[in-house]
Amino acid sequence: MYDRVLVGAKTMKTATIIRSLVYVLSFAVAVGTCIATESSLSVHSPVCEYKTNPLGIDVEKPRLSWKITSSERAVTQSAYQIRAAQDIGDLTSGRNLVWESGKLESGRSIHVVYEGPSPASRRRIWWQVRVWDNRGRNSDWSEPAFWEMGLLKPDDWTADWIEPNLSEDENISNPCPLLRREFMLAKGGIKSARAYVTCHGLYQMRINGQVVGDELFTPGWTAYLHRLQYQTYDVTELLNEGKNCVGVILGDGWHRGRLAWKKRRNVYGKKLALLAQIEVEYKDGSRELISTNGHWKASTGPILVSDIYNGEAYDARLEMDGWSKPGFDAKGWAGVTTASHSKDILVAPAGPPVRKIEEIRPAKILKTPTGDTVVDMGQNMVGWVRLKVRGPAGTRVTLRHAEVLDAQGNFYTENLRAAKQTVEYILKGKSEEVFEPHFTFQGFRYVAVEGWPGRLSLEDLKGVVIHSDIRRTGTFECSNPMINQLQHNIQWGQKGNFLDVPTDCPQRDERLGWTGDAQVFARTACFNADVASFYTKWLADLAADQQPSGAVPHVIPNVLSLGKEKGQSASAGWADAAVVVPWTVYLCYGDTRILEQQYSSMKAWVDYMAGRAGDTYFWNTDHTFGDWLAFNTNRSDYPGATTDKDLIRQAYFAWSTDLLQRTARVLGKTADAEKYGGLLEKVKNVFQDEFVTPNGRVASNTQTAYSLALAFDLIAPDMKQIAAKRLADDVRQFEHITTGFLGASPICHVLSDYGYLDDAYMLLNRKEYPSWLYPITKGATTIWERWDGIKPDGTFQDKGMNSFNHYAYGAIGEWLYRVVAGIDIDEQNPGYKRIIIEPHPGGGLTFARARMDSMYGPIESEWHLDGDTVTLEVEIPPNTTAAVKLPSAKLNDVTESGKPLGLVRGIYLLQTRKEGDRIVIPIGSGHYLFRSDGR
Ligand code: BGC
Repeated sequence: MYDRVLVGAKTMKTATIIRSLVYVLSFAVAVGTCIATESSLSVHSPVCEYKTNPLGIDVEKPRLSWKITSSERAVTQSAYQIRAAQDIGDLTSGRNLVWESGKLESGRSIHVVYEGPSPASRRRIWWQVRVWDNRGRNSDWSEPAFWEMGLLKPDDWTADWIEPNLSEDENISNPCPLLRREFMLAKGGIKSARAYVTCHGLYQMRINGQVVGDELFTPGWTAYLHRLQYQTYDVTELLNEGKNCVGVILGDGWHRGRLAWKKRRNVYGKKLALLAQIEVEYKDGSRELISTNGHWKASTGPILVSDIYNGEAYDARLEMDGWSKPGFDAKGWAGVTTASHSKDILVAPAGPPVRKIEEIRPAKILKTPTGDTVVDMGQNMVGWVRLKVRGPAGTRVTLRHAEVLDAQGNFYTENLRAAKQTVEYILKGKSEEVFEPHFTFQGFRYVAVEGWPGRLSLEDLKGVVIHSDIRRTGTFECSNPMINQLQHNIQWGQKGNFLDVPTDCPQRDERLGWTGDAQVFARTACFNADVASFYTKWLADLAADQQPSGAVPHVIPNVLSLGKEKGQSASAGWADAAVVVPWTVYLCYGDTRILEQQYSSMKAWVDYMAGRAGDTYFWNTDHTFGDWLAFNTNRSDYPGATTDKDLIRQAYFAWSTDLLQRTARVLGKTADAEKYGGLLEKVKNVFQDEFVTPNGRVASNTQTAYSLALAFDLIAPDMKQIAAKRLADDVRQFEHITTGFLGASPICHVLSDYGYLDDAYMLLNRKEYPSWLYPITKGATTIWERWDGIKPDGTFQDKGMNSFNHYAYGAIGEWLYRVVAGIDIDEQNPGYKRIIIEPHPGGGLTFARARMDSMYGPIESEWHLDGDTVTLEVEIPPNTTAAVKLPSAKLNDVTESGKPLGLVRGIYLLQTRKEGDRIVIPIGSGHYLFRSDGR
C-alpha cells in the first residue's frame, strides 16, 4: 500500500551537478538569506489566555498569543515587541505605557507571559504586538486588544449573599425564585458599568427587562466546595440615568436539582442563593455600587419546575409583566435573608461559557404506531426546543424528548432511566407565544408533542443546540461518505458532551464528568475544537476534588463521593485523566502552564498508585472499571474479550508515570524526572514479568491487552513486532474490533505504527457489528455508548446503560486526523510549532483532507490518489516548520507545484533524510502541492 504513495516527477533528468547547485540555492532561499521580494507580514487574532478580549479574568500574569500571516513561504518570527497601556489612546500613541517589552529576539508567538505590573481588580489592559520575520521585515502593530481583571480578592465583594424567603419543600423541585431590586443612578453620564454575579444554583440576570449577556448555565459547574465561578458582564448599555431595576431568576441546577442516580438531589445544598454587585462608574470618576443585600425582594414566578434531568414546567399565566423593570408593584413579594456563604472560593471562569450555538429546523413530523405525534429533528442534539404557539389560555403543551424510536417506530424513553426530559408549557392565551426553557437541557432527536392547539407544523418548533462555546478548529473529510458521517457523529458527540464539563452523556440521569471517557477522547477533542481553556477549568476541578490520598474520583466534579476522603475513585484508565489530559493540552497547545498548574495533582495520582503498589511495584488493588463495554458473547468457544484488570492497572500505572516523568523534564524538575523515570522502569519490568511471555504473548491475549502494552511502550524492544503481529492476527481472526473504551482509542494507532495499516483500515471500514460504522447503518447521528446500542435484530441493548450520545468510542477521530490525513505533533516542539505531515493512504480511499486551526494558524493535509498519481496538498502556518514524511518516495521524483524540489522556495532540501521507508522533507510555512505520477 505504501508503494503507491509516491511523490515525485518521473522524468526529471537534470544533471546531478546542476541539481546540487539548485538545491543549495533553494536552501539559501528557504532560510531567507537572499532574494528580497514584495511581501506582506501581519499579526492578527490576538488572544489572552485563549480568549478574545476577555472580561473578568483572574490570571495575574496572563499569556498572550497571536497569529501571523504572510504571502511568503518559510516565514518565521525572529522578534516581537509588545506594548500595553491602561488606555487605548495611550496604547496607540505609545505614551504612558504600563509595559513595553522592547524588541525581543524570539520566535515565541504563543503563550508570551505579560511581564508588566500585575493589574489590580477591575483594571483593563490594552495591548498590541508587532513582529519581525526571518527576513528582517516587520509587521504593523496588531489591532489593539484587551483583557480586564475581575474581582481578585474576597473583600472586593462587598455584596452579601442572599437567599429568598420562600417556603419550599426540599424533597421536590420547587418553583424558580425571582429576585429584584430597584435603584437610582445619578444624572450626568454613566461611563461604564460591570455586573459581577454568582449564585448557588443557576442564574439568569436581567436589567431593566433585558437579559444580561448570552451565557447559559451560569455560574457553571465546578468543584463547588472549593471553587465557585462568578461572571463579569459589561452592562453599561443596559443602565439608565435615574430609575433602574435588576432582576434575577434562580434555578436548581447542579447545586440542588436532581443529580446522579437514586433520585439524589440537594447534592451541594438545599437553598439557592445569589451574590451580585453592579459597579457603575460615572464620567466624573465617581462610582456607585448596587449589591445584593437584605433589601432585595423575592417571589416565585411562572417557572414551576426547572431541573437539568427532568425538564421544565412553565405556566405563562403566572408571568408578571415588568417584574425586572422599575415601577413594578412588588408589594406582595417576600424578603430575603443574608447568608454567610464563602467568598473565598470565588474564581473567574477559565473556560468558555455555554451558549446557544446553532439552531436546527426539524426534518419531519410523524405519527407513531401507538399514536404519538413525534417531531424528528434529523439529528441527535443537545439543548432544547423553542416553540411558537397560539391557543387559548390554560392550554397545556407537553414536549417529551427521546434519542431513538424503537424497532416498531414508537417513541422510546427507557434508556433515559429516571430523567424525565419533559417540558410543559401552559399558554397565557395572548397572540403568538414563544417559549424556551431556562435551566434544563435535553439530549434528543425526537420530540413527542402533546396538547398542541391546532395543527402542528415544522415551523412551530426549532431545535436550539447549546454547548460550551468551544471554537471549532478541525475538519476531516474523505472519499468514503460513511467515514464522513462517522466524523460528523464524533463532532456532534463532542458538542453534546462539552457542556461546561466533559460529560459521559447528555440525556439520562447521569451527565457527569466521567474521567475515563474524557481521558480517551481528549486528543480527538483537541483536533475538533479549541478546548484548551475548557480543560484548564475542568482540570482545576479535578485537582480540587482529588482525594487527600491522591486518588482521583470517577467523576469530576465529584458528586459520587462528595466531601468524602475515600470511595468512588482510583479506577485505572479513569483516574489517569489527571495526567493524560494536561499532557494532551500541553502537546496540542504548547501550554506548559497547564503542566505547572496540574503538576502536584499529576504527581499525587502517580504517588497514589506507587503507594498502593508498595515495594512490589505491582498495582493490583482498587476498584477498576476495566476495558469498559468490551465485546462480549455467549459463545463458549470465544466468551468475549475481557482484559485482566490487573494488566490494565499496571499498564496505566506505567503510562501515567511515563507522562509524569516527561512532564518533570519539560518543567526542568530534574530530580523528579529521574525519580519517576526510575519508577517507570520498575513498573514496566513488573508488567513484563507478570503479563508478557518470553514469546511475546501478552496476558489476556486480547486486542486491548496488546494495544495498551504497545501504545504505552511496555514491551521489550525485541518483542514488540511479535506482540504487534499477535494483535494483527487477532484482528484478522475475528475480523472486527473486540475492545471496550480503553482499547478502542489506541488500537488503530498501534496497528498502523507496526505496519498493519490495512488491518487498521479494515476495522475502520467494517460496517457490521461490532464496528465504528455499524451504528451508521442503523441511522446514528452521534457516537453510541455501546457497539450495539441497537442490535442487528433491531432490539435495544440493556436499557440501564444505553446512551446514543457518548463520545468515548469517538476517540477514533484522532486516528483519522493523525494517521489517515497525517497531521501530527513533534513532541519536542509541541503546540504544532513543528508539524509532522505523514499521510497514510489506504482503505480504498481516493482522498482524505484534514484541516485544523492551531495556535499558529491553519494546518492542512490533503491527499488524492488517481490511479498511480498521488497529490499531497499541505498548508503550514507562519512561524512553524514541518516535516513532510513521504512513504516509499524517491527524493528526485518529487515535484511541488509542477517544479522539481530543487527549484522550490520553502523546502529545506539539504536536510531531507531517510527514516525507515520514508523520506522526510523539512519545509517552512506556506502552501505546497506535491505530486507523483507513480513508479
Ligand atoms: C458512564 C460511563 C463511565 C462508566 C464507568 C457509566 O455509567 O456512562 O461512560 O465511564 O459508567 O464505567
